Amino acid sequence: MKSLITVRELDDAQLRKIISLSFEIKKNPNAYAQTLKGKSVLQFFVENSTRTKMSFETAVRKLGGTNIAFAGGSSSLSKGETLFDTLDTIKQYGVDAVIMRHSSGGAIDWVSKSTSIPAINAGDGQHEHPTQALLDAFTLFEHWGLSPDDSEPFKNKKILIVGDVLHSRVARSNIHSLTKLGAEVVLVAPKTLLPSDLSLFPKVKVLNRWDTAEGEKELSTADAVMMLRLQLERQKGAFFPSVSEYRHFWGLTRERAGILKNEAVVLHPGPVNRGVEIDSEVVDSKKSLILKQVENGVWVRMAALVEVLS
Ligand code: CP
Repeated sequence: MKSLITVRELDDAQLRKIISLSFEIKKNPNAYAQTLKGKSVLQFFVENSTRTKMSFETAVRKLGGTNIAFAGGSSSLSKGETLFDTLDTIKQYGVDAVIMRHSSGGAIDWVSKSTSIPAINAGDGQHEHPTQALLDAFTLFEHWGLSPDDSEPFKNKKILIVGDVLHSRVARSNIHSLTKLGAEVVLVAPKTLLPSDLSLFPKVKVLNRWDTAEGEKELSTADAVMMLRLQLERQKGAFFPSVSEYRHFWGLTRERAGILKNEAVVLHPGPVNRGVEIDSEVVDSKKSLILKQVENGVWVRMAALVEVLS
């Protein structure tokens, strides 16, 4: 694999290979401590990030490589230098791979096709966030004790993806990965926060409300609920009446979490808007795998780097 840009383009074997390698690395990280020795990885983040940036930096260090940091806000991009010229310039310092977060969907694809540098997408606009989906899948494999070698490992698992699907690259990548793994995926979102064309995701069921008999049935039979951050910074209009009404109709409140099966789990890619898309008590409850997702981000990103660079 030269680059990792989307989950949509990963075939089943590639997806399972990264998950398997993540398990192997988590079990024995020391075996990979020299894998990137002598290699430099450019961390090109021009949109804010805590988890993805820090876990990729940690992953490179654990693999014995060197991080080259790029501070977008204080760079010459602000003087009008193009993305291509900026990357061409940094390349001269010796770059073996680039990890890129960018606010424009497709920026990373363009970088990957127009430079010879292996690239990993750390989130591009509203398009995809492949390593987030891979770490989410890994966390579920681990929690459910399933193996990536099984055929359709998530068959018989129902996963609800809830909230601001329209602006969510996490949702797009997860829909592709979870359906490839055999899960039944149900999107729960107001019509205004769904893509107008859902034909890219033919295998998903869509619900617009939770407070219906059908909504309650889906909630009470779900194996996992993946809450999405309400991305107010990307919303250029009024998509719902108010934040409190959003919580009322689409939030995973304490009461709704009480309807879930005992063994059901709750995920969120972070950062969390506590009290908006999810109540604080649910974030901190036993059902929550949110901090496990953060931890697993390092193993999965190490696996992605090994795949792309070795
Ligand atoms: N989940 C996620 O991408 O978080 P960050 O924006 O903090 O990287």
